[in-house]
Amino acid sequence: NAATEHEAEDATISQGVVESNHAGFTGRGFVNYDNLVGSYVEWTVPNTSAGPADLTFRFANGTGVNRPMNITVNGVTVANNQAFNGTGAWTTWQTATVRANVPAGNLTIRATSTTVNGGPNVDKLTV
Ligand code: GCU
Ligand code: CA
Repeated sequence: NAATEHEAEDATISQGVVESNHAGFTGRGFVNYDNLVGSYVEWTVPNTSAGPADLTFRFANGTGVNRPMNITVNGVTVANNQAFNGTGAWTTWQTATVRANVPAGNLTIRATSTTVNGGPNVDKLTV
């Protein structure tokens, strides 16, 4: 599979808003997670071949505190409290990659905040 990009602002958002006030994002903006436990972005990603895949999240975290998230694929946890550490500024974007065994077909990939700080700002997912 060639990697494809999936903007967070085009995904399903629960308890978050699309914003564009911090430069450096791709597409039309990014998702600002509500600062609470359980806010999430969920992407639907077509996948032609089963096997290991890199799920790469592009994010910014302008605080000094990790904003961990649980990552699930089709409801199965593939990363528990994946770290999204501080990037130094809300305009400084970095990536975090989770390698997961995935089936063929449409993948439902969800990134859910696990602390009261919510998630980082999320720009996109590349799979
Ligand atoms: C600031 C920032 C937001 C960010 C928020 C947070 O308000 O402008 O983009 O989401 O902090 O701490 O989550
Ligand atoms: Ca936020």
